[in-house]
Amino acid sequence: MSNDFPLYGLSEEHQAIREAVRAVAEAKIAPYAADVDEQARFPQEAADALVAVDFHAPHVPEEYGGAGADALATCLVIEEVARVDVSASLIPAVNKLGSLPVMIGGSPELKQKYLTKLAAGEGLFSYCLSEPDAGSDAASMKTRAVRDGDDWVLNGTKRWITNAGVSDYYTVLAVTDPDARTKGISAFVVEKSDEGVSFGAPEKKLGIKGSPTREVYLDQVRIPGDRIIGEEGKGFAYAMQTLDHTRVTIAAQAVGVAQGALDYALDYAKERQQFGKPISDFQGLQFLLADMGMKVEAARQMTYAAAGRSERGDQDLTFFGAAAKCFASDVAMEVATNAVQVLGGYGFTRDYPVERMMRDAKITQIYEGTNQVQRIVMARQLLAGVQS
Ligand code: CAA
Repeated sequence: MSNDFPLYGLSEEHQAIREAVRAVAEAKIAPYAADVDEQARFPQEAADALVAVDFHAPHVPEEYGGAGADALATCLVIEEVARVDVSASLIPAVNKLGSLPVMIGGSPELKQKYLTKLAAGEGLFSYCLSEPDAGSDAASMKTRAVRDGDDWVLNGTKRWITNAGVSDYYTVLAVTDPDARTKGISAFVVEKSDEGVSFGAPEKKLGIKGSPTREVYLDQVRIPGDRIIGEEGKGFAYAMQTLDHTRVTIAAQAVGVAQGALDYALDYAKERQQFGKPISDFQGLQFLLADMGMKVEAARQMTYAAAGRSERGDQDLTFFGAAAKCFASDVAMEVATNAVQVLGGYGFTRDYPVERMMRDAKITQIYEGTNQVQRIVMARQLLAGVQS
């Protein structure tokens, strides 16, 4: 068989990235995952390990000192980290989410200033879209940004902000023209150190306990005029375009946690003896494992196909990003739940990682748009004739 036939698979470069991340994840992230969950503490060991090998924000282009990873390579990083610890995978994932609006719409100066710091590991980036009364209906946000001389003054409350308090930089969506609905929303970079920025108590969550989720309060936060991202009134479009790309990274996260749960269930099924033989000898269990493996692979293929569209900036990314996120997150929930089933009573305890994986998987069906929102997005695209 010829080796130069362009096969439908990962390039050697992408395979090498997967192997490199897996090595770091297994040696430097996995050993702390249970403790991070138990203590609900930020995975600092993971952050340090990822910064050391330039995988903390791999999407940042080389011109800003980043690794310049393409969308597929970024997904591989997130997938492999999520395979051992979903909380830690939110470091590269949310760094992309927070900074992508800057990459999409920001001025050259804004990109230079913030992407350089992000790439150098001098601060994480968070994304502030949701509010207490504006979740799925993001456009109904109330946070206001008012021009005052050359400055902008921001007031409002952002909710469900991943890595809030740990991140130094925040992309904040705020209303600049209350009469223009989505055309009256603009995006800004706010720094943790800006006067008037404060944070709520960490939410007490079911999963991803190592990734702090807090409210962000903006009380008369005055920022210089050049911290607006791109054009006034374009913020909602930047926010939606960002989500088109980053829903693919959530799909990768979901594939990672599903693979981690499947790997554990396979090893356990071969070891665990009942009725005088390994439980993997029973066909009932084999069929369960087969379905798990089949669905993880289907989710992975959809995710990588969407990553290709993300990298090329294809017009149908909106559909494929939503579809990959929706499908992969449902698979993650099902596979992680079935992994607990394979381990039986042991799976239900914290002595084994699959119960954490099951709890962590749940959020992938909720954030970056619930799977109900993904279906709205997909249906609109289909009806508009945009899907391939
Ligand atoms: N790309 C570019 N522009 C887009 C777009 C896209 N994908 N989607 C919408 N827009 C534009 C539209 O073109 C439209 O502009 P025009 O009027 O010029 O056509 C404008 O934005 C408004 O679009 P809609 O009319 O579709 O807006 P809507 O109010 O009906 O909302 C929605 C649509 C899809 C439901 C959207 O509100 C949505 O995605 N909601 C979910 C929000 C979400 O995902 N939140 C997650 C928060 S982040 C998070 O979870 C993060 C974390 O910390 C990990």
